[in-house]
Amino acid sequence: MPRLIFRQADGRKVEVLAPAGNTAMEAAVDNGVTGILAECGGACACATCHGYIAEAWLPRLKPMEEMEDAMLDAAIDRRTNSRLLCQIELGPELDGLEITVAENGA
Ligand code: FES
Repeated sequence: MPRLIFRQADGRKVEVLAPAGNTAMEAAVDNGVTGILAECGGACACATCHGYIAEAWLPRLKPMEEMEDAMLDAAIDRRTNSRLLCQIELGPELDGLEITVAENGA
């Protein structure tokens, strides 16, 4: 099972284990990581699963599709390492992935 490390807005680091095939958003929501609202349930239609990927991990992610890119334009404080976590499918190659939770509203 891939292990993910989330850094929440309160500065707390949360480590979670998630089954391969799940998304990073599901890993966060299933484990109570704060700040990942995921209002659309993973349909790439809300941008409230926005996170910042640690630079070293960016090359290991699949490139983003047009829809994710467009949705990220609606996210708060988009950065070069921004991704929507519902679009990141977990596999063994992402074991140890580090993500900082972005400002996702309430
Ligand atoms: S959960 Fe809505 S865009 Fe990711």
